Amino acid sequence: MSPTQLFISGIITISTLLAVDGFNGYYHYSVDQCRFSSWALSDLEYISSYWYNKAEFIRFNSTVGKFVGYTEFGVHNAEQWNKDQAYLEQMRAEKDRYCRGNAQIDINNILTKTVQPEVVLSLGKPSSGDKPAVLMCSAYDFYPKMIKVTWYRDDKEVTGSVVSTEELADGDWYYQIHSHLEFTPKAGEKISCMVEHASLKGPLEIVWDPSMPEPERNKIAIGAAGLVLGLIVTAAGFIYYKTKARGRILVPTN
Ligand SMILES: *[C@@H]1O[C@H](CO)[C@@H](O)[C@H](O)[C@H]1NC(C)=O
Repeated sequence: MSPTQLFISGIITISTLLAVDGFNGYYHYSVDQCRFSSWALSDLEYISSYWYNKAEFIRFNSTVGKFVGYTEFGVHNAEQWNKDQAYLEQMRAEKDRYCRGNAQIDINNILTKTVQPEVVLSLGKPSSGDKPAVLMCSAYDFYPKMIKVTWYRDDKEVTGSVVSTEELADGDWYYQIHSHLEFTPKAGEKISCMVEHASLKGPLEIVWDPSMPEPERNKIAIGAAGLVLGLIVTAAGFIYYKTKARGRILVPTN
């Protein structure tokens, strides 16, 4: 993946709340967007739209170069605004005046920065009866959003029996993704999860260790520790009892 392929669309959004009426709220707002997918900004596009509640009723698209209405009211407004040459010229200049510099700032300071995912491979569900087991491959806290998660069984890519979530926004600029693999365990088989991301020098492969699932390992470790502790307490009690008993025997009674 080359960096340019990674960023499908960078969008700057400015939203202005123009009118709120009463507790139930009627929202009239405008959203300005600067859209681009190329870091050279060759496809930079400025979009300015007006919304009433959930409906966009008019939009200026720099590629079209004029306003387009989507409702009767919007169409009427578009006709009026498009007659105003000075206003149209001003809107057409926004792509360079407003978008270009800000988009360049985004590219320099955000899009070129990457953060590596933390990848965890775990058993979601062990197999039971004729139900397959589920392995879960999770990648946390990565940036940017574009990521590829693939599964391999004996070094062959698995295409079916894989379910993956979308990249989920954490709300703090980072993303996470979860991919599930359903499988029926086979002895001696190698299963791995492969993650590809712009922050990584190459694909990151994590191989599943089927020897024992982690929760089971933990249970056994806790059980063993409990057993050792129990033995120590028993031994201490026994020694204590023996010393006491011997002490009593040592006291002559006649
Ligand atoms: C703007 O208009 C162009 C040309 O019609 C179109 O290809 C593009 O998808 C439009 N952009 C948006 C965000 O609607």
